[in-house]
Amino acid sequence: MTGPGKVVAGNWKMNHGPREARAFPSQLRIPDGSSAEILLFPPAISLVGLREELERAGLADRIEVGVQNVHFEDSGAYTGETSVSMAAEVGASHVLVGHSERRHIFGETDAETAKKVGAVLRGGLAPVLCVGEDLDEREAGRVEEVILRQLETVLASEAIRASLGAGARFLLAYEPVWAIGTGRTATPQDASAAHAVLRSHLVERLGSRGPQIPILYGGSVNPDNAGDLMSAAEVDGVLVGGASLDAGDFSRIIGAA
Ligand code: PGA
Repeated sequence: MTGPGKVVAGNWKMNHGPREARAFPSQLRIPDGSSAEILLFPPAISLVGLREELERAGLADRIEVGVQNVHFEDSGAYTGETSVSMAAEVGASHVLVGHSERRHIFGETDAETAKKVGAVLRGGLAPVLCVGEDLDEREAGRVEEVILRQLETVLASEAIRASLGAGARFLLAYEPVWAIGTGRTATPQDASAAHAVLRSHLVERLGSRGPQIPILYGGSVNPDNAGDLMSAAEVDGVLVGGASLDAGDFSRIIGAA
């Protein structure tokens, strides 16, 4: 991808309630001159507090925030869910869609993931679509097949392709399931290979827009490996889980971008 700096995104998962989220911004140290594009995905209930403290710390223009999941309907009888317009109302700019924990723990299907991406784009927010193979699939040599199926389920929608073609913001995250929370990271070469597969499909489906879609790597990224991963070909940034919970570690990852 050509464009501004690398993307450094933090996915807090179900960690950091409102109190801890409020304490986070004052502990961040963004290196002078950093061109990193920084995103944070707190639990939805912590988002307002985090944004208020980012504003207080003078970081509201520097760090964008998003939610980790949405429902594809705008409102209605969906106990426990959050809609895109509600997320937008509290200042979310991005939405994680299809994270492997949503797929594997909550049974989210490719079809639901595609509906969510469509809803996020219609609501004017930027989806961050997560794809990735599990260990069995990798060992069976099925990486390419799995990640292309997950991506194509979304790009098969003409409305989604039209929206992306018209310039809507969209990010991809390649997150091999075996690397998430395990301390086992893909090598920069493995990441590059998977990203190249995704990139060529983006170009095939979206033409000149394809090269502009950032593709992030996620899975056990930490301050020590982030630099090498972000230097790898086709890696436009990182999506960080565990290491984004500590403001010091997250700051070091931003510094490596
Ligand atoms: P991890 O999680 O960095 O803790 O492996 C990454 C993710 O799930 O986005």
